[in-house]
Amino acid sequence: MTEKIKEIINNQINEEFYSAYLYLAFAAKLEKWGFKGAASWMKVQAQEENDHALGLFRFLLDRGEEPKLKTIAGPEAESFKNMLDIFSAGLGHEKHITACINNIYELAREEKDYALESFIKWYIDEQIEEESNATEIIDKLKLIGDNGSAIYMLDQELRTRLYIPSGPYATSNAAKA
Ligand SMILES: [Fe+2]
Ligand SMILES: [Fe+2]
Repeated sequence: MTEKIKEIINNQINEEFYSAYLYLAFAAKLEKWGFKGAASWMKVQAQEENDHALGLFRFLLDRGEEPKLKTIAGPEAESFKNMLDIFSAGLGHEKHITACINNIYELAREEKDYALESFIKWYIDEQIEEESNATEIIDKLKLIGDNGSAIYMLDQELRTRLYIPSGPYATSNAAKA
């Protein structure tokens, strides 16, 4: 594996752990506002992000490389005023992650690393879902506006999201992680 590839994957491990950290910060804020359902949704999302990081961690080890863990930055959630701000920031972050994943795919092709090219496809597909999930909730929030009882109902709906192990090894090779 080339140095460039090792570096981009180590960076992505950090991006995914940061994503988990960011969603946890969102969960903290939402719960403080009384939105326990939305907070729970964010905590599930954080667990999935942790799985995404561990998938990349596993891939490096399987290729005979040692993952290098970098410092995780503290997320900034202070400026948010409402649920719409938070989910919009989440979508913005997911778009950034999609760009990172696309860069990994491009580098895999450039360096003719076919194993990475195949592996990273799971993340490309996952990003479609991540962006569409966030967009769906944002659309609902825009529709609802400041209708309190509708916000309450949406919060109840978000509470039903369950954690299902995520990542490229979640279904085929769970025991390995
Ligand atoms: Fe992720
Ligand atoms: Fe994500």
